[in-house]
Amino acid sequence: MTSKTYHVKSFGCQMNVYDSERMGDLLAGQGLSAAASPEEADVVVLNTCHIREKAAEKLYSDVGRLRQKRADGSRRTIVAAGCVAQAEGAEIAARAPEVDVIVGPLAYHRLPELLKQAETGRAIDIDMPAVPKFGALPGRRVRQASAFLTVQEGCDKFCTFCVVPYTRGPETSRPSADLIAEAEALVARGVKEITLLGQNVNAYNGGLSLSGLIRALAEIEGLERIRYTTSHPRDMHDDLIAAHVEVPKLMPYLHLPVQSGSSRILKAMNRAHTRESYLATLARLREARPDIALSGDFIVGFPGETEADFAETLSIVAEVQYAAAYSFKYSVRPGTPAATMADQVPEEVKDERLARLQAAITVGSLAFNQGTIGKRCTVLLERPGRKPGQLIGKTPWLQSAVVSIPGAKIGDLVDVEIVGAMPNSVEAVPIPSGQESAAA
Ligand code: SAH
Ligand code: SF4
Ligand code: F3S
Repeated sequence: MTSKTYHVKSFGCQMNVYDSERMGDLLAGQGLSAAASPEEADVVVLNTCHIREKAAEKLYSDVGRLRQKRADGSRRTIVAAGCVAQAEGAEIAARAPEVDVIVGPLAYHRLPELLKQAETGRAIDIDMPAVPKFGALPGRRVRQASAFLTVQEGCDKFCTFCVVPYTRGPETSRPSADLIAEAEALVARGVKEITLLGQNVNAYNGGLSLSGLIRALAEIEGLERIRYTTSHPRDMHDDLIAAHVEVPKLMPYLHLPVQSGSSRILKAMNRAHTRESYLATLARLREARPDIALSGDFIVGFPGETEADFAETLSIVAEVQYAAAYSFKYSVRPGTPAATMADQVPEEVKDERLARLQAAITVGSLAFNQGTIGKRCTVLLERPGRKPGQLIGKTPWLQSAVVSIPGAKIGDLVDVEIVGAMPNSVEAVPIPSGQESAAA
């Protein structure tokens, strides 16, 4: 008899990517093997995201497709996991009777038990237990050169538009000793780059501060690169900025979402920073580490956003010159304070502002990429490129770099020179051996 198969489909943020991988570890530990697609799998986990309305709707469209019986008449076991499961567990139970297991992001270590229970009826666990799940998870099986490591769960910031504090619970940091052990195990499996994850990762406080954790991880031999995301502008302290100068393994990249360029809107968002304090933080960073690549997130059409407020968002984009940035139309999330604010912005105004913002972001990212032409750096190769012989990897500034290096393979860290720039990628060529010393 062939063993049962599973597939975990991940939506949303990198924290979900980490959780999806860990659910895969749990299912593999039960003797299941990975299937290439949800259609082929016996057990399908949909690890959902609730951040915007469209993200949440994907669960129901996938369930609709996956509940169809397979060619041999058998049906799949469907697990709804993640933030929609947490926020709308009861609604899923009512709207999608074919979902077998509903499990929240803080309870998925119980997945094997819940699957067993589901053999006799639906199993639900959307508790937010005080004892963290991490201790109950098996060892990691990663094989890629770059891995995520969740260092902190939850969020206490309560931005008025955001569901995360409700779906992921209060902000808690994992003990640094556990994280160092998990990182050492990853490096022993060949991982060269670790990205530390948390919704407010720079507020990490698990015995060490984030900068202390980064310095401790930098001691691990074989670990070549450290990154972290997402940071909150309010928690960008001097010790972390100093780490960007003093720890060569810490990559010169910072994702620091501002959301809006208007201090009036930021106040309504409960962001706890202003346009001015945000720009002052960036100035401190750039003074310490002039080459740092900055990225951010933006919301257009937050309730009450006027054309004048939006003009301030456009002007902050022009001023900062982000290497990359992500922009979203404000999406009403039931239960959040902004959902019931007056002056909701019409959809067509949001569409039009989003288009203008994205055009401005593209101008900035192209300028950033052009500014790196001639630089020598390392690239961590991640996947094949479009043309034969091409590989795509990441520069220290998180640009996607396309290179052709005879003999190089995925997972290698190679020395290159950047020779061409597009808005979303750069072109690089190998540095002849013997000349690598200048690479960052
Ligand atoms: N913790 C991070 C990111 C959280 S979610 C932070 O504080 O920045 C990722 C991004 O989704 C946010 O930065 C925000 O830009 C966007 N987002 C969150 N809620 C949203 C909503 N209701 N509508 C549109 N975009 C939203
Ligand atoms: Fe959401 Fe704000 Fe927390 Fe980020 S800081 S996760 S945007 S509430
Ligand atoms: Fe989405 Fe939950 Fe992440 S709502 S963005 S998957 S924390």
